[in-house]
Amino acid sequence: MTPRILTAAASAAAEIVAARLEAIAAAAGTPAYVYEAGHIRAAYAQLDAAFGGTPHAIHYAMKANSSLAIVRLVRTLGSAADANSMGEVEVALRCGFAPSEIVFTGVGKRHEELERAVSLGLLAINVESPGELERLAALAADRGAVARVALRVNPDIDARSHPHISTGLKANKFGVPIEMAPALFRDIAARPSLAAVGIHVHIGSQITTLDPLERAAEAIVRLARALGDEGIHIEHLDFGGGVGIAYDGGAAPDPAEYVRRIVGAAGGSGLKLAIEPGRVLIGPAGVLLTRVVDVKQFPGARRFVVLDAGMTELMRPALYGAFHRIDPVRPRPGQPVPADIVGPICESTDTFARDRELLPVEVGDLMVIRDAGAYGAAMGSNYLRRPFPPEVMVDGAAWRITRRRQTLDDMLALEEDSADPKTRKGPER
Ligand SMILES: Cc1ncc(COP(=O)(O)O)c(C=O)c1O
Repeated sequence: MTPRILTAAASAAAEIVAARLEAIAAAAGTPAYVYEAGHIRAAYAQLDAAFGGTPHAIHYAMKANSSLAIVRLVRTLGSAADANSMGEVEVALRCGFAPSEIVFTGVGKRHEELERAVSLGLLAINVESPGELERLAALAADRGAVARVALRVNPDIDARSHPHISTGLKANKFGVPIEMAPALFRDIAARPSLAAVGIHVHIGSQITTLDPLERAAEAIVRLARALGDEGIHIEHLDFGGGVGIAYDGGAAPDPAEYVRRIVGAAGGSGLKLAIEPGRVLIGPAGVLLTRVVDVKQFPGARRFVVLDAGMTELMRPALYGAFHRIDPVRPRPGQPVPADIVGPICESTDTFARDRELLPVEVGDLMVIRDAGAYGAAMGSNYLRRPFPPEVMVDGAAWRITRRRQTLDDMLALEEDSADPKTRKGPER
């Protein structure tokens, strides 16, 4: 599935795409994130339909992009929410999700976060350690509440993804070793302040072969069966997220095939099956719209194309050496020439691509960095006092700015500011 804002195959369509991106750049400025609602709807529908009649839930992984417009859109499609922090839980509530539609994951939850999660009565708190279980049980007992618990297990399965986004190996900090799970579930069952509602597994992200995901699914199905044999009955199996996308435009796992494998592994369990997709729903639906601010080449040296977007807007290349396709909005005639495509930030790692074959570009040209819908805006930073860019939602022929560009005043609003007469205390000498 190829989102329309990203392609320029037929020339009439290409003209519409280019004109729209130019209009967006004129109104919102650059850099800006541009998302296409239709793509998100289609990607969601594909996953949902692939479950057929099997009872299931799609918990959108908000960490991929928790902008209000995206979360609200996903909610209208029938999704539940997977929140990776209390901030994300609060955003989910603000977007209209009921507490019974939110699961709360996170490797280091603070006391106040657990308190809030218990008082809200979330669908599940995904517990990551025996210590956390103990703390949660005590806290819920103090309040006379019953916390709904899913245990995050670590199946020691290699996701064969980038090491920085693999989470299902013993060497990773996530979850509890799966062989410890039966004892912990017995513990949960014995505590009146806890209810065992699920098993959770998430072995990594940007996984491009389905086998590890299927094996993880089989592992938690076996665990659920063993628990059932002991009389411990849960409500759902949560297989996490992780399905990869084709950043290079080549082949990627088929999301529907992924769901079929999950259903194949777990459909007979009689339990509700949950998945937590992030990237596969949102990644290809967004581009980072940016402008060329400099082109430089010195004798015998590389050619640098400098963009007005950098690692502050899309951290993935700097963080994981990730590949993103980068194209001019209006390709100029000529032959592609190798270039390093870089951001404007004073870090050598602020590099989007090295030796990339790129059509001729000039200062002022608009460019798109593709597949930036997930882990783009969500990972943004104010490094170098760079403001958060605007976000734009394209829906059919219409588009709107769903987040304005951050101003310096927005950025400084939390700080003591001697230039602001309202907060100035006067020089202390
Ligand atoms: C617990 C959990 N669930 C779901 C996801 C979403 O993963 P992805 O965006 O790869 O689908 C993540 C991201 O790593 C995660 O940590």
